[in-house]
Amino acid sequence: MLDSNLFPYCDGTLCCEGVSLEKLAEEYGTPLFVTSRNSLVNRYRSFERAFSELDHFTCYSVKANFNLHVIRALAAEGCGCDVNSGGELYRALQAGVEPGKIIMAGVGKTAVDIEYAISSEILMLKAESLSELRMIDEIASRLGVKASVGIRINPNVTAETHPYITTGDSKEKFGIDEVDLDEMFALVKTLEHVDLACLDMHIGSQVFDADFYHAALEKLLDVLTAARSAGFGIRYFDIGGGFPVTYEPQKPATPIEHFADKLVPLLEKTDTTILFEPGRFITANSAVLLTRVLYRKRNHAGKEFVIVDAGMTELIRPALYQSYHEIVAVRQHDSVMVADIVGPVCESGDFFARERTVDRVEEGELLAILSAGAYASVMSSNYNGRLRPAEVMVDGDEARLIRKRDTFEQLIQNEMF
Ligand code: LLP
Repeated sequence: MLDSNLFPYCDGTLCCEGVSLEKLAEEYGTPLFVTSRNSLVNRYRSFERAFSELDHFTCYSVKANFNLHVIRALAAEGCGCDVNSGGELYRALQAGVEPGKIIMAGVGKTAVDIEYAISSEILMLKAESLSELRMIDEIASRLGVKASVGIRINPNVTAETHPYITTGDSKEKFGIDEVDLDEMFALVKTLEHVDLACLDMHIGSQVFDADFYHAALEKLLDVLTAARSAGFGIRYFDIGGGFPVTYEPQKPATPIEHFADKLVPLLEKTDTTILFEPGRFITANSAVLLTRVLYRKRNHAGKEFVIVDAGMTELIRPALYQSYHEIVAVRQHDSVMVADIVGPVCESGDFFARERTVDRVEEGELLAILSAGAYASVMSSNYNGRLRPAEVMVDGDEARLIRKRDTFEQLIQNEMF
């Protein structure tokens, strides 16, 4: 859900901060992502406030929204970055984030990713297998340095969320299972170019119940004890991201303060700096996807379709996870209808809502698809020859383009030989 202070209705039209979405659509076209800078900053600050008593450092998970200007807005607040690949590391560095504030995760980092991370002198890499630990050691040795490394533990806790985004369970590919601990500690002792500095977990995304974190943390604390008695000087404890947001008014997210109340007492025991990797929590409700109604049609069965100019290519979450996104008319309406809101892509899965009660919009009108700040533009594609959309950031009464819309020329440029 949007923060209605930052996305208010002014004279019957939805605005982002002080700028009318209708004006933005006219100026930049649709589909268009519109991000509120102040919303990003407020969300980051509210996260920081919740955990203020704790010795901690927050690394925004850029996979949620890697636009350089989004990263910059957060970096200006002192936030670090969690990256998952060389490409995301490149983005964070280009956005001006200090290497010492960047951590790298990822179950399948390539040798190129690892070398790039080590030679950029980032804070640490998190390893997810014994083979990766060996690979990091080999590369660090070649570069003549000691790499600061965290180990991602798979705590085997099944967080209640969509099955595609639960990650702390033994059925999943992530992390090192507890059973390998002894072998792992023995191995790390032989690796002269690895400094084991951190224990890490990430149990999933959009996790509503703090008990899952609590259960996983208890397991990680046992690993911490084992690591320390094996002689490792663990200085960081990374509990990942996954903190929930509200997409549906009927399903409000657990407040972040509740997570803090539940977890801080355990985290304090670690005598480490706690690392957090929130992504969605910061960006999801800071942006909308603005789209124009192309056509309306009604079929024999009486089914109403609203065909809009955005599609699964810009926001794949409904197609991929059956996710709910609120959809509102930009110009306020006083009547509603039941309709499917669908995109132009040649896939039946290309929908934003099915059988949804929505404002009775006409052709040519604008809709805002809410909660489009996380895992939306970053997951966009050129499927069907579609142009990835433009993005705008609003700060008070000012709006500026933060990503140009793709062009036809860009669609073919890597194939022009
Ligand atoms: N840290 C690690 C290691 C992660 O894998 C993730 C997300 C995060 C942090 C940030 O999680 P967040 O705080 O944003 O929940 N595309 C899916 C979400 C995939 C999440 C992947 N990992 C979606 O649209 O729901």
